[in-house]
Amino acid sequence: MLNKKEVAIMRRLIIDTDTGSDDVWAIIAALRAVEDIHVEAITVVCGNVSLDICVKNALIACEVANTYFPPVYQGMGRPLVREKLFTADYVHGSDGLGEMNLPAPAHQVEKGHAADAIIDLVMSNPGELEIVTLGPLSNLAMAYLKEPRIAKNVKKLWIMGGTGFDQGNATPAAEFNIYVDPEAASVILHAGFPAIWVTWDVACSGTPITPEDVKILLSNDHPIARFCYRCTQSLREYDKKKFGHEEFGIIDSVIMMALIYPEIMRGVYDAYCEIELNRGVAYGYFSIDKHGQLHKPSNASVCPQVDAAAYKRRLFHLLTY
Ligand code: RIB
Ligand code: CA
Repeated sequence: MLNKKEVAIMRRLIIDTDTGSDDVWAIIAALRAVEDIHVEAITVVCGNVSLDICVKNALIACEVANTYFPPVYQGMGRPLVREKLFTADYVHGSDGLGEMNLPAPAHQVEKGHAADAIIDLVMSNPGELEIVTLGPLSNLAMAYLKEPRIAKNVKKLWIMGGTGFDQGNATPAAEFNIYVDPEAASVILHAGFPAIWVTWDVACSGTPITPEDVKILLSNDHPIARFCYRCTQSLREYDKKKFGHEEFGIIDSVIMMALIYPEIMRGVYDAYCEIELNRGVAYGYFSIDKHGQLHKPSNASVCPQVDAAAYKRRLFHLLTY
């Protein structure tokens, strides 16, 4: 356990998550990166599955990580504006963890709403906390709408979202985290956070976990690596059925490794970005004006690529040591 002084010099992180199988990899890896980062809190949002299941999965991830147990807060159970929650149980399974149907975790969620926890933590530690969002931006948007000053008091915001320059995974135009709550994402995009976006296409080029990678990951038969592989069963079956290949993308662990080890990122650039809010075929589209065609000041940094070998090396170490 870190003492107060060690926590004081350590990078300090809030993880916001819609705990599906790829979020679990990211949470476990972050909690086991004890030399590099301290997770101050986990805030849970609906997304991959319903909020109650996301909360259960977040608590399970903390137990599996087997290091320390940060406070876990329950947040938004629906998007800001959209009437219906669009989930990805067709990808991650009805329990979000590949139909493992695990028993209830021993730990309990904290009292209080995730949005309030974000506000309290950020405003009582101005300029010290980083936030990573692994799910729809509903919690963070609600926190910002309640307390706009958090945008200037967050040290850095890391967002997994947006299609980048490939097809979307929710619709041809939209990546899932944005598509679930486009209005929340738009609020955050224009709020003035020091934000870097790791987009969906990063999960499709070089970083997917291959059968050879699985052999390496499971080579020392570590229980945590076994758990991580097992909980992606539905995800793997979905990818195989949809794309016909054996590899599978774990995008939330990609952004988490990029956050913890920024040297693995390649080609980060600033751009003016916008989110389509008209409810047509492009609803939730994350437009990146990479070449400045709109002549508007940039409002985001975008990471289009990571060093895939370095990503996997870092991630596999954290899941097997
Ligand atoms: O589009 C991929 C993202 O949506 C990942 O964070 C996945 O967990 C889902 O939240
Ligand atoms: Ca996620």
